[in-house]
Amino acid sequence: MRVLFVCLGNICRSPTAEGVLRHKLREAGLADQVEVASAGTGDWHVGKAPDKRSQAAAKLRGYDLSAQRARQVSRADFATYDLILAMDNSNLRNLKALQPTKGKAELDLFLRRYQSEVDEVPDPYYDGEQGFEQVLGLIEHASDLLVIELKGRL
Ligand code: 4NP
Repeated sequence: MRVLFVCLGNICRSPTAEGVLRHKLREAGLADQVEVASAGTGDWHVGKAPDKRSQAAAKLRGYDLSAQRARQVSRADFATYDLILAMDNSNLRNLKALQPTKGKAELDLFLRRYQSEVDEVPDPYYDGEQGFEQVLGLIEHASDLLVIELKGRL
């Protein structure tokens, strides 16, 4: 199984989701069976490490995002990944515009899929530290449910 998280810049939300899910898969003994990655719909931050504020919030809860580097999502990703999860509706719209008719990937809105109280992971880029903590909490909750789904699918 291959899972790809997508946000706008690939420096805040989707790298956080990548780090959290990878950590939870390791804890569940599924690290060898599920490949996790992230990408952005935009290209402004390609090659950069995750935002320092995302890294700091993640580190406080035991997730290490430091080795990740941003990349832009491509049409080829729809052939590589089984599940592509967008952080917000704008990301989802952009992904739908890019999606080839024959791609194997299932495309969904991350939080909606796991019936979270809110549908979208809010963009924290222009917020203070509290925004990054909120993002992390939303991602942790949905990732717990995603691990359960993946267990059932493997
Ligand atoms: P992300 O956050 O999509 O969660 O990585 C953003 C990062 C950068 C920008 C916007 C959102 N930006 O405008 O540069």
